[in-house]
Amino acid sequence: MKAITWRGVNKTAVETVDDPRILNSHDIILEVGLTATCGSDLHLLGGYIPAMRAGDVLGHEFMGTVAEVGSGVRKHKVGDRVVVCSFISCGRCWYCRNELWSLCDNGNPNPAITEGLWGSGVGGCYGYSHALGGFAGSHANHVRVPYADQGAFAIPDEVPDVRALFASDAAPTGWTGAHQAEVQPGDVVAVWGAGGVGQMAARASMLLGAERVVVIDRFENRLAQVAQHIGAETLDYTQTSVVAELKELTGGRGPDVCIEAVGMEAHSNDPSFLYDQVKQQLRLQTDRPTAVREAIYACRKGGTVFTLGVFAGLVDKFPLGAVMNKSLTLRGAQQHGHRYIPRILEGMRTGEIRTEHLATHTLPLEEGPKGYDLFKSKEDGCVRAVFQPNGGGRPS
Ligand SMILES: NC(=O)c1ccc[n+]([C@@H]2O[C@H](COP(=O)([O-])OP(=O)(O)OC[C@H]3O[C@@H](n4cnc5c(N)ncnc54)[C@H](O)[C@@H]3O)[C@@H](O)[C@H]2O)c1
Ligand SMILES: [Zn+2]
Ligand SMILES: [Zn+2]
Repeated sequence: MKAITWRGVNKTAVETVDDPRILNSHDIILEVGLTATCGSDLHLLGGYIPAMRAGDVLGHEFMGTVAEVGSGVRKHKVGDRVVVCSFISCGRCWYCRNELWSLCDNGNPNPAITEGLWGSGVGGCYGYSHALGGFAGSHANHVRVPYADQGAFAIPDEVPDVRALFASDAAPTGWTGAHQAEVQPGDVVAVWGAGGVGQMAARASMLLGAERVVVIDRFENRLAQVAQHIGAETLDYTQTSVVAELKELTGGRGPDVCIEAVGMEAHSNDPSFLYDQVKQQLRLQTDRPTAVREAIYACRKGGTVFTLGVFAGLVDKFPLGAVMNKSLTLRGAQQHGHRYIPRILEGMRTGEIRTEHLATHTLPLEEGPKGYDLFKSKEDGCVRAVFQPNGGGRPS
């Protein structure tokens, strides 16, 4: 079969790889309908995530049709239309039973790397390096889905493919941030980053009752999407002082919840950007924490700062003094999608969660490198490149 593979820093290719096979009784093989790029893939392309190997199949946001089922699968049959959570979780370990699905003790067959990096192994993810399990990704004609009864979800008939696609990763990630940051009715929430993840965090915050939600970015087309499709307020950080503006909006207090949906390759106009970039490229720090710093300074005393953006390791100039003295709660997570996907699919069915505008560019799998270039450069208004490995995907 054909797949989009990682071929080294900033290089992808389309090549022929082995077809996946059922390896365990709880597996299904999925014929991929649609599969999208995610900001997390940019960190792989940038070479900032360890343990990628040339030839690894990329992609972790996907939906499709069940092509084969293992003998132990109970919930799915051949022909079913499903969306699959980007994290791989067993449903039985302590973490899964406590709804911390991306921390699953069994989803990642290769926990030693993250044990060394972070003190504990974390769960597995499709197409996301050997540190997260070495699973083949979804930018391919077919993908093996382990623990399919847990990770694959039937798509309601009313939900078109292109909307359901984002119930795999962007929407449950946004929901994880808003829910785990404990957004309360009446809260003011600020979200850094107007990509798929930031937009979905904003929407989830609104659905959890936030009174005002403000999304921060510099790309006009993304901020326009926020205003039009999400219904949140926007701030362009190149035009204003974000911290001052957020204080102004909240009577001097600052937002109750600050969600960072930017990650380790944050951009900034600040002189510290150059400093962070040089240190990151010389590997003196692994991550550029620009937006996290800003979120910490902006947050109201006693508020919560949540990092949804992916960070790999160490950062410099981290305002720990502000965290401590302002009594902030600082949290982060990879998405616990298994917990939120049923609620999200229901929201997609009723129309309160709409995601199809994120799919700005739809391409055949053969145009993988072009799709990644567009997504990385954010040229031509690209928010997500979506591939159709089998030529399909039901139109909206
Ligand atoms: N926690 C999870 O489970 C999970 C899941 C998916 C993605 N992610 C991470 O979430 C982050 C966002 O993903 P995405 O797909 O939306 O990415 P994306 O690249 O499409 O969007 C990131 C946005 O952040 C903006 N940005 C950069 N610097 C900024 C700054 N200083 N202030 C405000 N905005 C800034 C960019 O302009 C861009 O629009 C990435 O780090 C990704 O790895 C995490
Ligand atoms: Zn992702
Ligand atoms: Zn588990």
